[in-house]
Order: sequence, then C-alpha cells, then structure tokens
Amino acid sequence: MKTESLIQLVVERFYEKAKEDILLGYQFAKIKDFDTHIPRIISFWEIQLLGKTDRPIAAPFDLLNAHHPLNIHRGELDRWVVLFKKTLEECQVNEDLQTEWIRRIEFFREKLSRLLRP
Ligand code: HEM
Repeated sequence: MKTESLIQLVVERFYEKAKEDILLGYQFAKIKDFDTHIPRIISFWEIQLLGKTDRPIAAPFDLLNAHHPLNIHRGELDRWVVLFKKTLEECQVNEDLQTEWIRRIEFFREKLSRLLRP
C-alpha cells in the first residue's frame, strides 16, 4: 500500500474510534464538517511524515489555537494517544513509519500538554 493511502486509512479509522469513544466523543462532536476536517488532518500527517501534501491547505496549521478552546484535560490527551497507537497497530503500519509517527505524536503531546486544564 502506498504511504499516502496508509495515512488516509489510519486517520479515517482513528476518527471512527474517536467519534464513538466514551471519553473523546463529545470533543469530536464539536467538529462541524468532517468532509473538510478529515482531509485536512490527512494532509497534516502527510506533511509530518512525507514532507508534503498534494491537497491545498486552506490555512496554516495552528495546533495550539485549534485545541485551546476545547479545554482538554489530561485524561483526554492520554486517551487520544492510546487510540491513535491502537489504530497504527490495527492498520499494520510498518515499523519504521510507526516509530516516526509515534515520535511526532509525542512531540505534539508535549506541546498540547501545556494547554491542559488542571
Ligand atoms: C498529540 C495529540 C494531537 C494531535 C497531533 C492533534 C492534531 C490535530 C490537528 C492537526 C488539528 C487541526 C488543526 C488546524 O486545523 O490547524 C486538530 C484539530 C482538532 N483536534 Fe486534535 N490533536 C491532538 C489531540 C487532540 C485531543 C486530545 C483532542 C480532544 C480530546 C483533539 C480534538 C480536536 C478537535 C475537536 C479538533 C478540531 C478543532 C476545530 O477545528 O475547531 N485533539 N487536531
């Protein structure tokens, strides 16, 4: 499978889980248009993992401002990471890509942890 297709699969599977998740579902219910959001997230990970995306990006990514209004707490951030890693396993992402993907997740987890509500 091409890496682009694998990234798409992982993101779509992750969102299927996150939307139904008992802890995270209410957060993802805030997203108004998944037909815009999901391709944007796929592009985000393509840029992270492949250094480019072929889709046009409507606006630069701004993780801190996008997550700030969500008032995320630690349990939600931890749960997000668990669900994402589970999705990588389920999609049988190869070891090298998985290692790099998890490294990036940990980088953003650290950044987002500054926003957590007490
Ligand atoms: C390492 C952890 C995370 C990463 C890498 C990540 C990544 C992203 C990215 C790239 C966006 C799009 C930002 C933009 O449009 O500029 C986004 C938006 C969003 N994320 Fe996260 N996220 C993480 C954790 C979480 C958590 C813990 C939650 C909630 C429990 C969450 C809920 C959302 C929601 C609801 C949006 C849409 C915000 C909006 O468009 O108004 N994310 N995330």
